[in-house]
Amino acid sequence: MFENGKMWADDVGKPIQAHGGCIIQHDGMWYWYGEHKGAKNCPGTTRVDVIGISCYSSKDMNSWRYEGLALDVKDSPKGSLIQPENVCERPKVLYNKKTGKFVMWMHLDTPNYTYAGVAVAVADRPIGPFTVIREMQPNRTDSRDMTLFKDVDGTAWLVHSSDWNKTLRLSRLTEDFTDVDGFYASALTDQTREAPALMYRDGKYYMITSGCTGWQPNSALYAECDHLCGQWKLIDNPCEGDNYRRTFEGQSTYIFEKDGKTYLMLDHWKPKNLKNSGYSILPVTVENGILTVKWQATFPEQAS
Ligand code: DGJ
Repeated sequence: MFENGKMWADDVGKPIQAHGGCIIQHDGMWYWYGEHKGAKNCPGTTRVDVIGISCYSSKDMNSWRYEGLALDVKDSPKGSLIQPENVCERPKVLYNKKTGKFVMWMHLDTPNYTYAGVAVAVADRPIGPFTVIREMQPNRTDSRDMTLFKDVDGTAWLVHSSDWNKTLRLSRLTEDFTDVDGFYASALTDQTREAPALMYRDGKYYMITSGCTGWQPNSALYAECDHLCGQWKLIDNPCEGDNYRRTFEGQSTYIFEKDGKTYLMLDHWKPKNLKNSGYSILPVTVENGILTVKWQATFPEQAS
């Protein structure tokens, strides 16, 4: 059992380094990918050098085994922006059935966040190694916080903060998930949201986002829409429990399903000591069309 809001340890007692991440299931195993922030903060800053993207595996999520760096900054191709001094955040991975490849997308940036692009990498196995095949600004638009979302019809989307974070953009991916196909839609125009996490339930799409206050917590909001590229409507703060106005001191990163339940992953950033940033995994419910994220002290929740 893990204490929400705290730093979590892997099966040998080492701090889990998988920030801004995602959890996917493949062949009966769970894989957690995230930023390895295991270095000290650069003196006087709120950043750490890029080490790579970690992968942890688990058969039940009661313990996590470190599988190493699925993407190692040391293996970056020549000319790549994936370098220790840059920014590589919020990795998300999807399995593509047609190609049999695991495809990772991540936010790629310069230290002052002015490049605002993505990197795409592929692997034959869930634990990597992932090979970088593309670095770009999707559809020539800026892209900062991002996630991937697989729709019910199998199409995959890059959902990213754009227009200097003012607007969220949904950019459709090619069939092999390794590129954008040129079609995109805008959502929550001028609402200045980031940290998007999406889910679908009973004919509706839901998107949880945070405000843009750097590493500091703020109020989460959820939006809903009948169509992925329709008119998204901001509804309310979905959080319930102490500190609900500051997302329990966390920030959204991904939504996944396990055993018929839906969960939201949060990061609890420690800007002055990023490697100690904690995690939460909290249940998400939709009742009478209202989405709620309830605080729980542990993951998995203790039976009441
Ligand atoms: C908020 C984002 O959600 C994080 O991923 C990170 O980019 C910080 N901003 C940097 O300030």
